[in-house]
Amino acid sequence: MERIRLGMVGGGEGAFIGEVHRMASRLDDRYTLCAGALCSDAKKAASSALSIGISQERSYSTYQEMASTESDLVAGIEVVAIVTPNHLHYPIAKEFLLAGIHVICDKPMTIDTQEARELIDLAKTSNLMLAVTYNYSAYPMIRHARMMIQSGELGELRVVHTKYTQDWLTEPLENTNHKQAHWRVDPKKSGVGGCVGDIGTHAYHLSCFVTKLKAISLCADLSSFVDGRRLDDNAHIMIRYEGNTKGMIWSSQVAPGNGNNLEIQIYGDKGGLVWRQEQPNELIFTPINKPGQTLLRGSAGLSENANALSRVPVGHPEGYIEGFANLYREIADALMIYRSGKKPSSGDILFPTGEDGYDGVSFVEAAVKSNNKGSVWVSL
Ligand SMILES: NC(=O)c1ccc[n+]([C@@H]2O[C@H](COP(=O)([O-])OP(=O)(O)OC[C@H]3O[C@@H](n4cnc5c(N)ncnc54)[C@H](O)[C@@H]3O)[C@@H](O)[C@H]2O)c1
Repeated sequence: MERIRLGMVGGGEGAFIGEVHRMASRLDDRYTLCAGALCSDAKKAASSALSIGISQERSYSTYQEMASTESDLVAGIEVVAIVTPNHLHYPIAKEFLLAGIHVICDKPMTIDTQEARELIDLAKTSNLMLAVTYNYSAYPMIRHARMMIQSGELGELRVVHTKYTQDWLTEPLENTNHKQAHWRVDPKKSGVGGCVGDIGTHAYHLSCFVTKLKAISLCADLSSFVDGRRLDDNAHIMIRYEGNTKGMIWSSQVAPGNGNNLEIQIYGDKGGLVWRQEQPNELIFTPINKPGQTLLRGSAGLSENANALSRVPVGHPEGYIEGFANLYREIADALMIYRSGKKPSSGDILFPTGEDGYDGVSFVEAAVKSNNKGSVWVSL
């Protein structure tokens, strides 16, 4: 099978997540990175492309030039990965969808729900894929947790407690030349949410994905603890999910000692589950009135989907890159269906799509609205 022709916008020298997307796309040998507009600075875009083996002719100074040229090529890119700061996701995704090219966009999908809806509609009318890289949803033990909940092993769900805490913005890093901090605290580039948009959205998506519950309303208390910071750096959010399930999200980027501390706890009337991103190969299950068990990725008796996404035997740790690559693998399967002139059915798609992207942006808007009104309950 000919590899999928992938392009990338963003992810130049010194950038963070572009490189992770490139590694993820390579892990299963399903993609070839053929083209890029890797940086807003033309010179840096060219040198970045050269350093990762993109030919000079297919390294572009602007994403507009890339979309129009690639769509005219016989073997132009089939899909583009968008790994720029948040405010550019919408114009870039729109440009590529209008050029007939599938889109993989990092989160948050856009900076408001109007833009998000427009992209969803555009992808639909153009018969193109719009995927969003909520990568934590593709870890094998997360897929196993989802199956356990679906098959009733936890009973009626009562409580979903998700935290995503980091410490890298404890000090005003944005006042230095720190590339990633700089745009994340600028409302024009980040959107209305700071920490809540950057990592709160991951926690929110994960909670809905694992439980298959829709959130109905939320009540948020956002803070900007660092002097002069214009966006939130800490968020406490209560959530009411459908079916009387209650939840809480704590996301923070000012919690010293926390690296990438994403954790979800789910409790029903028959048992509880705990998963921690920093120990992703383990899922702790406690059925009521029985001893707790630690289920290990790659061990016997796990669900089909967890096994399908597990790459090496039990005891060989897998983590962030493999989880990200699992999304790229599932997206590749969907793109193969598009290639054959068909459309994947929604039941075949487990990776996050435009609708998940929309929900994430809607969560951010609701959290900011709730906070600004004095932490009142707001519908989602
Ligand atoms: N899924 C995840 O786990 C995860 C993790 C980190 C970041 N992200 C998301 O990925 C995106 C990028 O974050 P980052 O930390 O890598 O940012 P970054 O600042 O490290 O990189 C952004 C890149 O975009 C480039 N860029 C800016 N404007 C451009 C333009 N007009 N054309 C081409 N390139 C342009 C920059 O030059 C840079 O190379 C953000 O939306 C962020 O929320 C997702």
